[in-house]
Amino acid sequence: MKSYNIALIKGDGIGPEIVDEAVKVLDAVAACENLEFNYQEALMGGCAYDVTGDPLPQETIDTSLASDAVLFGAIGGTKWDTLPREKRPESGLLRFRKELGVFANLRPASVYDELVNASSLKPEIVKGVDLMVVRELIGGIYFGEPKGRDENRGWNTMVYTRPEIERIAHVAFKIAMDRSKKVCSVDKANVLDVSQLWREVVEEVAKEYPEVELSHMYVDNAAMQLIRDPKQFDVILTGNIFGDILSDEASMLSGSIGLLPSASVGAKIGVYEPIHGSAPDIAGQGIANPIATIASASMMLRFALGEHKAADRIDYGIKQALAEGYRTKDIAGFDAKEVCSTSEMGSIIANFAAKCKR
Ligand code: IPM
Ligand code: MG
Repeated sequence: MKSYNIALIKGDGIGPEIVDEAVKVLDAVAACENLEFNYQEALMGGCAYDVTGDPLPQETIDTSLASDAVLFGAIGGTKWDTLPREKRPESGLLRFRKELGVFANLRPASVYDELVNASSLKPEIVKGVDLMVVRELIGGIYFGEPKGRDENRGWNTMVYTRPEIERIAHVAFKIAMDRSKKVCSVDKANVLDVSQLWREVVEEVAKEYPEVELSHMYVDNAAMQLIRDPKQFDVILTGNIFGDILSDEASMLSGSIGLLPSASVGAKIGVYEPIHGSAPDIAGQGIANPIATIASASMMLRFALGEHKAADRIDYGIKQALAEGYRTKDIAGFDAKEVCSTSEMGSIIANFAAKCKR
């Protein structure tokens, strides 16, 4: 029996509910594949601030670094919105990513055939969409210095260095080699100096991947093209803030932000988390969609642990649950056979995952 240590950071809002469902599914596939997961819970975000006065206690970093992978829910909530910047849950998350060194955030956006009607776009526009946003995660305007504010001014700096751009570009090109060999790099090079450097460096890295077709797009145009004709994209390579925005936009192609998983990698330990936030408005009601987190657990099995069979089981479980008409409230269109709660959805996916014949 293979045994893995998983750091569980449930976080705030709907975080605990959705992570619990991912754990349910992980345990179901562990039983089938002769695996064992040992979970170590750690605090981050508002809940960590409430207990320790710090949104990212050192213990959480230590626990994570001692694990094989981190499964994370979501953080934040109105309760902590008025705290000074460095005490806010979001600062904890940003510091966490930086401390671990996970510079590459992979956000796949694909559309389940069963859900083409759940998107706010026309089915013919979204059917078959399968793209990957490769977002630089520990640089750019989120971290650049100087930053600050006084009563009348607030300022941040968007800065990227050559090595930072090189390493994220390599990730994007490598992923493209396993997909349809197309990279679209998104920037604002018509206005920003930082983007001009970005473009130059991406061009240079591209020379090492002659099979990959590279294109460039300004971010405003990319935001429009994603809605106009999303199927033109395969791998989208972009910086921190553009990637944050475009990945939320891309999630609506799939029908709900509750569907999109992500992997933050590039360091020894990776972080696997849904792209959505903590949704405090629906926390505790049992209506959150756990699929994004369950799919993140599948990415964790695949990328961090190399347990492809177990990951295939989870992917099958999700597809089968949707194919049989099970829907959480956010994706319950006219074709829902049954609107289920967060925990029902988790159990249904766990059952299908366990039955998967492959
Ligand atoms: C995300 C989130 C975070 C980000 C927030 C919560 C700091 O929006 O993971 O996309 O902006 O990176
Ligand atoms: Mg975001």
